[in-house]
Amino acid sequence: MKLRGLTGIDLRGKYVLLRDDFNVQIVDGKITEGFRIEKSMPTIDFLRAAGARVAIVSHLGRPKGARDMKYSLRPVAEYMHLPLIDDCLDKAFLSQMHDGDVVLLENVRFYAGEESNDPEFSKMLASGFDLFVNDAFAVSHRAHASTVGVTEYLSSYAGLLLQSEIENLTRIMEKPKHPVLSIVAGSKVSTKIGVLRALIKMSDTVIVGGALGTTFNYACGENVGNSLYEPDQKENALEIMKFASENNCRLLIPLDKGVGPDFAPDAPRTDKDMADILPDDVIIDGGPKTAARDIMEINRAATVIWNGTVGMAEWMPTWSFGSFAIARAIAENTRAGKLESIVGGGDTIACLDACGVMDDVTYASTGGGAFLEFIEGRELPAIKVLEE
Ligand code: 3PG
Repeated sequence: MKLRGLTGIDLRGKYVLLRDDFNVQIVDGKITEGFRIEKSMPTIDFLRAAGARVAIVSHLGRPKGARDMKYSLRPVAEYMHLPLIDDCLDKAFLSQMHDGDVVLLENVRFYAGEESNDPEFSKMLASGFDLFVNDAFAVSHRAHASTVGVTEYLSSYAGLLLQSEIENLTRIMEKPKHPVLSIVAGSKVSTKIGVLRALIKMSDTVIVGGALGTTFNYACGENVGNSLYEPDQKENALEIMKFASENNCRLLIPLDKGVGPDFAPDAPRTDKDMADILPDDVIIDGGPKTAARDIMEINRAATVIWNGTVGMAEWMPTWSFGSFAIARAIAENTRAGKLESIVGGGDTIACLDACGVMDDVTYASTGGGAFLEFIEGRELPAIKVLEE
């Protein structure tokens, strides 16, 4: 896939509408994890140095088309030391801009026309700009006004982050070194069926964990106590297991679990084999046997694709055990040059960060849903419109 890039484009004095994904976690008005912002900086710096006049457009959360200040991008503007333009449709600021200036527009999802990809809204958003740059891989699976609609009105290009995401993900997906191990966790089987099938086709081994793994335990007739899982996905889980065996892929489910009396960060932990889990037990993490098995599988792999933590990794240290074991094993093997590792998804990236191994994976993607859809081989609408 070849995308229209910025090389050779004269940007001096040009008004650029830049789509970034600053949908980051904010707690008490402060950004707790700035990975997406850091990854967006090379394109911003490039445009600035080229003398463009840049307005960044982004969403934050799901304000459902209403101006809900809980979803204001002000904390992001403060974090980035950028002026915030209060209304993304008010273009009065453009006449005040000089070459190399950068501003941030307030949350584009304050308008219903964004998510409905309304042509009138897209036209108003695009007005006043000379060109559009999409650097928001993480939202490129959404056909919204600020990702697709504006491309009807402006010459459109891929930013450096978007290019790098596509190049890295394509390289690993097309020619992975075997043995390939995929680790998929998270809460729902229903949202991961497509990606599981795609990963089964390309992997030698797939590990399922987290609440997703618990649904597989349940489908196999094992005890799951009073835990988060999807009883109605039993048939789908069994079908996925059959699909794996038909495709010569080992599908590995959790062997034991860390359980507590309730679903809380300070719940006391007991590790139990599946057979010992009682009806009142709440599964919050994978157990030590599962972690040891996961480490062994990572040690033997040449490529690891990881999406989803296998427990409540943010409830450190009690419930981060299983996810941290995976993060550390991936980092050690990657550092030693024995493993090519690709990691995606907000909670998974946050787990790498909490473990201090963010720089020890081959590629960390900014995408969550977009990462999964790309791996599944689905066409991402905001990328399709940038193809040469
Ligand atoms: C993400 O965090 O995955 C992207 O920003 C997309 O957000 P959305 O799922 O609310 O569209």
